[in-house]
Parts: sequence; structure tokens; C-alpha cells
Amino acid sequence: MNDERITIERVTEFNSRLVDELSQIETEAFDDGALNRWTFPVLIRHGAVFVLKCDNRICGVADIIKDWINPKLAFIVGFAIKEGERSKGLGYKLLSGIIDELRGDGIKKIQLTVDPKSERAINLYRKAGFKQITELTNEYGPKVDRLLYELELED
Ligand SMILES: CC(C)(COP(=O)(O)OP(=O)(O)OC[C@H]1O[C@@H](n2cnc3c(N)ncnc32)[C@H](O)[C@@H]1OP(=O)(O)O)[C@@H](O)C(=O)NCCC(=O)NCCS
Repeated sequence: MNDERITIERVTEFNSRLVDELSQIETEAFDDGALNRWTFPVLIRHGAVFVLKCDNRICGVADIIKDWINPKLAFIVGFAIKEGERSKGLGYKLLSGIIDELRGDGIKKIQLTVDPKSERAINLYRKAGFKQITELTNEYGPKVDRLLYELELED
């Protein structure tokens, strides 16, 4: 896909249709771990939600919060590329764009958790420079383990 047709935008306004579209992308990816009609509006207003647009259509989403104790730390709550658009380099484009945005915003560290079985996601985060910090056993419920990954940002 031609690069001019791919853009990254921070979502600042929303309506039910947009929230349903974003929820659908996350549900495909995370099932009951997806943000929804109650949680997307909160993240859009009080966190940061970025979309990747391909030919002006949303093809990826990332939702981010700042840490309460360390406001220089950003945590990526959700990160997903739409089904049918994966493994085409779009995840890397969205992640790189977000890293640049967060660096510009004064963030010094980015963390996220990833499913230990998700080879594709782990490969993506390693490619972007993230390092595994620890394993979080039962983090999202019984036997739902996650790996904590971190990226330190330089000025
Ligand atoms: C994980 C995800 C975000 C990656 O985005 P993507 O657009 O598919 O990934 P990219 O095409 O940008 O690939 C980036 C790197 O991931 C790895 N990768 C891509 N497709 C892969 C595959 N099918 N198998 C293994 N690794 C793969 C490669 O290392 C690739 O880098 P390379 O092209 O230089 O080899 C996307 O697949 C997705 O939304 N999956 C479902 C939701 C999810 O798991 N989100 C992450 C939650 S923590």
C-alpha cells in the first residue's frame, strides 16, 4: 500500500458508530478483553486513542494511558490491526508513529503486556526495541498470563 494513503490520527471526537467500529477491531483481537462502548469514550477523553487509517478507513487502533505514579510512563492498553490487514507492515507503522508521538509528549518509558503465545505481537514489539521485563502470572484471570514489555525512550 502506498504510504501517502496511510495516516495516524489521535481520536478527539467520537460518536456511537466510531466507537462500535473501534470496539469491533478490538473484539476481533482481544475478545472479552476489548474496550467497549463504556471504556472507549473514557480512553478517548482521558487517555489517548490513536487510529491508523488506510485509504481513509480505520485499519488499526491503539489505546494508551499515562501512569498515575510516574507520568513519564505510558502504558499501551490495547493495540490491534484489523483482521485481513495484518502482517503487511501496518502494526509496525502504527507502533513507530505512536512511539514518536509519545516521545514528543515527554514520555520516557512505554510499557505493555503481551500474550506469551502471540509470536507475531512479540516479534513486532522486539522489532520496535521493546524488552521483556517480567512475566505476570494470572494477570488477566486464572491461567491468563502476560509478558510485561518495556521501551526506554531517549531524548
Ligand atoms: C500483533 C499485531 C498488532 C502486529 O501487527 P501486524 O501489522 O500484523 O505486524 P507487521 O506486519 O507490522 O509485522 C511486524 C513484525 O511482526 C512480525 N510478524 C508479522 N507477521 C508475523 C507472522 N504471521 N508470524 C510471526 N511474526 C510476524 C515480524 O517480525 C514483523 O516484522 P518483519 O516484517 O520485519 O519481519 C497484529 O497482528 C494484531 O493486531 N494481532 C491481533 C491483536 C494482537 O495480538 N495485538 C497485540 C496485543 S499485545
